Amino acid sequence: MARLKRSKNGAGAHYDRISSWYDIVAGPGERKFIRAGLKLLHADCGDRILEIGSGTGWALRDLAAAVDSGGMVSGIDLSMKMIRKAVDRGVKGYSGRQPALMRGTGTELPCRSHTFDAVFMSFTLELFETRDIARVLGECRRVLKRQGRIVVVSLSGAGGRRRTVEIYEWLHRRFPAYVDCRPIFVEDVVRGAGFEIVETLKMSMWGLPVDLVLAETGS
Ligand SMILES: C[S@@+](CC[C@H](N)C(=O)[O-])C[C@H]1O[C@@H](n2cnc3c(N)ncnc32)[C@H](O)[C@@H]1O
Repeated sequence: MARLKRSKNGAGAHYDRISSWYDIVAGPGERKFIRAGLKLLHADCGDRILEIGSGTGWALRDLAAAVDSGGMVSGIDLSMKMIRKAVDRGVKGYSGRQPALMRGTGTELPCRSHTFDAVFMSFTLELFETRDIARVLGECRRVLKRQGRIVVVSLSGAGGRRRTVEIYEWLHRRFPAYVDCRPIFVEDVVRGAGFEIVETLKMSMWGLPVDLVLAETGS
């Protein structure tokens, strides 16, 4: 896994800066992976779900519709401006309760233990420093109920070295302010945090592997 050189404040400031055009640039490319990740998570009526790195709220909207009024959806994000975008999006089209949005970091979730049935993360875990990835997943385990489930959608370095991954990592080292994440070993880090892997889908974005991992806390 390539090292990531950026402070937490740097990450928040970066997403504040790009919040107005994030959906135009990143949205269309990433949406099909988010949809596939949500299908894997299979949110059900009445579920309580947390999204970490909820961004401009695309997944929140679908999650809120799936859990309906008996459930609850919360989103946490480091960038206040990304949260505002999600709030703007949220007023339209929810059949269920509005998601509760919080500003904070995935390494210290401001949530009680054993609160959620499921956690969702798309294109976010690979933004954390290597040592913080384990902290984020540890926090996910803490806030999940027994037999809770997690879906992580992330750029992946698994499956051997690929030219596309090498080029992407070079761009990340050379222009960290623009290419701000790097492929990670998704199954390994999820399993390493004590989750049981249930299913992994392998997809690809512009030749870069994307892994969608569904895992459970176990009983
Ligand atoms: C690449 S965007 C992905 C947004 C959304 N999940 C999606 O797939 O469209 C990453 C998001 O994670 C947020 N983020 C970055 N570092 C974070 C941290 N330490 N804790 C919580 N959120 C963070 C960013 O502000 C941004 O909204």
